[in-house]
Amino acid sequence: MLLGTQRINGQGTLEIGGCDAVELARRFGTPLYVLDEACLRDNCRRYRKAFESRYPDVHISFSGKALTTTAVFMIAKQEGLALDVSSGGELHTGLGAGFAPADVTFHGNNKSPQELEMAVAQGVGRVGVDSLDEIGALQHVAAAHHLTVDVLIRVAPGVTADTHTHIQTGRVDTKFGFPIVGGGAREGVERARAAPNLRVRGINCHIGSQILETAPFIQAVQMMVEFAAELRRDLGYVIEELDLGGGLGVRYLPADRPPTFDEYAEAVTGAVRAACETHGLPLPRLMQELGRSLVGEAGATLYTVGVVKAIPGIRTYVAVDGGMSDNPRPALYDARYDAIVANKAQEERTTRVTVSGKHCETDTLIASLEAPEIAPGDILAVQTTGAYNYSMASNYNRLPRPAMVLVSDGRADLIVERESLQDLVRMDRVPPRLGGSSPPAQPT
Ligand code: LLP
Repeated sequence: MLLGTQRINGQGTLEIGGCDAVELARRFGTPLYVLDEACLRDNCRRYRKAFESRYPDVHISFSGKALTTTAVFMIAKQEGLALDVSSGGELHTGLGAGFAPADVTFHGNNKSPQELEMAVAQGVGRVGVDSLDEIGALQHVAAAHHLTVDVLIRVAPGVTADTHTHIQTGRVDTKFGFPIVGGGAREGVERARAAPNLRVRGINCHIGSQILETAPFIQAVQMMVEFAAELRRDLGYVIEELDLGGGLGVRYLPADRPPTFDEYAEAVTGAVRAACETHGLPLPRLMQELGRSLVGEAGATLYTVGVVKAIPGIRTYVAVDGGMSDNPRPALYDARYDAIVANKAQEERTTRVTVSGKHCETDTLIASLEAPEIAPGDILAVQTTGAYNYSMASNYNRLPRPAMVLVSDGRADLIVERESLQDLVRMDRVPPRLGGSSPPAQPT
């Protein structure tokens, strides 16, 4: 499976953004996240166009959690997208990348007092309010600043999308938002509307991630608009904005067939129009927050094969120089990936191997991969690692987190530096009673 600008060059080697993947591995080291700029920009453009051409009033964001780096945020901004964040760290990165605070939506089920303070003081465009406690806390901060904060009320519509349970986020039994059933969501809207320094702009939901069909999105729209109709009937309140979150899936395996941006936008905008017509509601501003579908396929991770271990009659393990620290998704969600041996991209895939990482446990990256004969030193390119890989990476076993390069038209630029061994111990402190001289860490 070749994605974005990937192709196989005359030497039979994988090329991404016009750069030879083996050269990239040599120049920048491995593991290496490689981001295909043209693919990312093209996705942003098609995403915007799909909605802007179908609906009169849209607000199109990149969901920053999928891939949080300054350069990526700058590209999203250049492509005319707004930003949704879910922490002070993502907000800080977004503002540093040049997003106007007004173009940022701040979500999250448990924003800290510092994060609420930051959101209000910076003047973010909208805060997605998730609980009654948060309504009180946000009102308090807004009043202290003598400001009125625009909010969306996060609603759990009760939709079960066909995806891994850890990333089904729109069910009734969820930590996110206010459930429609039982009246929680209605109470949330009522309470937020009664808060003098909050202005309720509308409602939002996010039903899950890596969703490969349009039906759950349509169902969510229907439930959200029905809820909006209930708000008008019972509270005399008409929503201005309907934020449907993200969730569109990508191709991890060649057989995956996610809806295109056009199919997705057609389904969503069609459902919004139809539901609003049914309930006699004016069309709200439609807000979208896709993450994975913009960056997922634009990313690949290059690894160097270190050890090839054949257990006769059982399987062959191919061990690479990264693993669950740079990609925790197989361990967390049973996520499956495809890969290409970059220096043997043309060779026939005659064997089946298991690709493992180098961590102190069974960290399988790919349980079963058809591949040519693999030998130590080969460069393996794991596909579709742009979303939720770098942003979820850890230092487990004190592995330095990999570098990331942005490739385009034969150029490769570092956008995240590789961590050094020095970086790994930078935050360690040794109290004097252990013989250390460093001052005790200051409480924050
Ligand atoms: N908006 C909200 C409020 C969200 O919670 C999310 C993702 C998005 C938008 C973007 O969703 P996307 O288009 O990327 O599916 N770590 C998991 C994914 C968790 C997604 C959480 N929320 C994974 O690696 O699969």
